[in-house]
Amino acid sequence: MQRLPSHIAIIMDGNGRWAREKGEDRLYGHLHGVESVRNVVEGAAELGIKYMTLYAFSTENWDRPEYEVSGLMELLVDTIHKEVPTLNKNNIRLHVIGDIAMLPEAAKIELKEALNETSTNTGLNLIMALSYSSRWEIVNAVKKIAADVKEGKLDAAAISQDTIKQYLATCNFPDPELMIRTSGEYRISNFLLYQLAYSELYFTNTLWPDFRKENLYEAILDYQGRQRRFGKTGEQIKNEEAAG
Ligand code: IPE
Ligand code: IPE
Ligand code: MG
Repeated sequence: MQRLPSHIAIIMDGNGRWAREKGEDRLYGHLHGVESVRNVVEGAAELGIKYMTLYAFSTENWDRPEYEVSGLMELLVDTIHKEVPTLNKNNIRLHVIGDIAMLPEAAKIELKEALNETSTNTGLNLIMALSYSSRWEIVNAVKKIAADVKEGKLDAAAISQDTIKQYLATCNFPDPELMIRTSGEYRISNFLLYQLAYSELYFTNTLWPDFRKENLYEAILDYQGRQRRFGKTGEQIKNEEAAG
């Protein structure tokens, strides 16, 4: 409990394969994936984790068959609607990052309501990445920076790493210390490219619908056994730790 990450990001992958293994439709996998979200979010809140970002739908996922996309959107609307009381009960504040304008009207309405109704909660910050991709986010940030420079609000010579952070969708959140991807895929798939610069990466073969809070604890334990060096030597880190 002494070395918990403050921010955990998860690429929730493997719903389709989980369903196929059972001879079911992909949407059946997504439906069960919601159970995992519920369980893992509860686990994170119980531990006192401050931020959890879940990659729920990528910009690239819009290219899936229309029937899967609309099924996912319906599931999204339905889940948000049902989960708001639980979020409130557990003091969880919902946030969204991504190109929300792309979402169907019903999803936008549900989301807006859920964001509003949980806005005063002070426990876990649950950040849903929806219609999100990191390159989309970076392009957006660059456009806004360029506009602000043009309008004289920002001095181009003064642009720092912190300036860039402030223009990203994640401006209010710290970088994740730990990023988990399920389903045995070893890639980032356009997720938080800037923010994951120094995150510890954890990959597991478990498919997302089988992932539970116990699996989250395993990932955290693995993270806690690692030495984060940030470019320094192991000896420097040990000395720093000894000095407190
Ligand atoms: C992750 O599971 C959920 C979304 C991308 C929406 P997938 O649907 O990608 O499942 P696989 O990778 O095909 O098994
Ligand atoms: C990444 O999973 C996006 C989400 C989990 C929402 P994908 O299944 O879409 O990623 P790729 O296509 O295998 O890289
Ligand atoms: Mg996948």
